[in-house]
This record gives sequence, C-alpha cells and structure tokens, in this order.
Amino acid sequence: MIKTSDILDEKEKILRKKSETVTFPLSKKDKKLIEDMLTHLINSQIPEISEKECLRPGMGLSAVQLGVLKRYFVIAHEQDDHTFNKYIIINPKIKTFSEELIYVEDGEGCLSVNREVGGIVPRHARITIEYEDIDGNNKEIRAREELAVAFQHEIDHLNGILFFDHIDPKNPYKDEEKMRMI
Ligand code: NI
Repeated sequence: MIKTSDILDEKEKILRKKSETVTFPLSKKDKKLIEDMLTHLINSQIPEISEKECLRPGMGLSAVQLGVLKRYFVIAHEQDDHTFNKYIIINPKIKTFSEELIYVEDGEGCLSVNREVGGIVPRHARITIEYEDIDGNNKEIRAREELAVAFQHEIDHLNGILFFDHIDPKNPYKDEEKMRMI
C-alpha cells in the first residue's frame, strides 16, 4: 500500500531528475509498485475511500514521485459509469501530436504539489504515444482531451518537469485565447 506520505513533495530534488529507460523483464518490486500505484489512484478517486483515508484525488502517478527514477507511470481514468480505465505506460515516446492546444479550466493538479497553482498549462489536444506494456511489448495509444493532458503531465515527470514550469509567473493566463479550455 502507498501512503500519502510516500509520495514525494515538489521540494524533493529527485523530482527534477530525468528517469531512466526501463529494461525487461520488470523486477517483482517494480510490478508490485505499479499495482500499488494503480490501487492508490483508484482509491483516491472513490470518495468514500479517499475521505476515510485522507487521500488527495489523483488520476496519474509516475515512479519518480515514489523515488524510483524509472520511465514508467500509471493512470486511472474514471469513466461516466464510475469504472476506471487503467493505463500502465513504460518508456513512452510522443509520436504525433495535434497543433491544437488545450488547457484544464481549474488548472492542473499533481500529487507532489500540495498547493493551488493558478494559470494555463498548454497541452496538445490529441497525442499518439509509443510505449511498452508491463511485459515489454511495443504498443501505441491515441489519447485526447483529459487523458491526453494526463499523459503529457506524466511524461513531463519522467523528464524532471513539473506542470507549473509551463506557467509564466508574470502572466499566468498568457495566450489563453489561442487555446481551448476543457
Ligand atoms: Ni504530477
């Protein structure tokens, strides 16, 4: 089980490091961590559980946020019927992306950033990424809207980038009119 205190805060320098390419087969430890990360994200998005356990809701988590400098992340994306689509993404590369940019109306959140950060984080509305699955098979996935934002946010983590790096502190709402709000 992952505790809230296991998730590193933005002030930890390791979050600014570039994670390393993963080799296969994955260790038992990595497989267990992946499973625990997904469980944590799902629990955090189920109100009865998150309130009881004081979890902050989050849909994505990268290994580096738990101090593991390896290029993988997981996403639990809640659907309208309250089920979760789960993604385990290893060694991702963005293959194509849309010209169209979007941003999240309420701002992006991150389980490592324990404060409100206002401003626009420009993201591609649609992306295609190549990655490896938990067994090392090559895969490709297309994502759009909220899921595309989540993928870009997590890929940033693998490169030591935090979402607020994209916000101009002097003009947090710069270029708002050039992007679509979601
Ligand atoms: Ni994050």
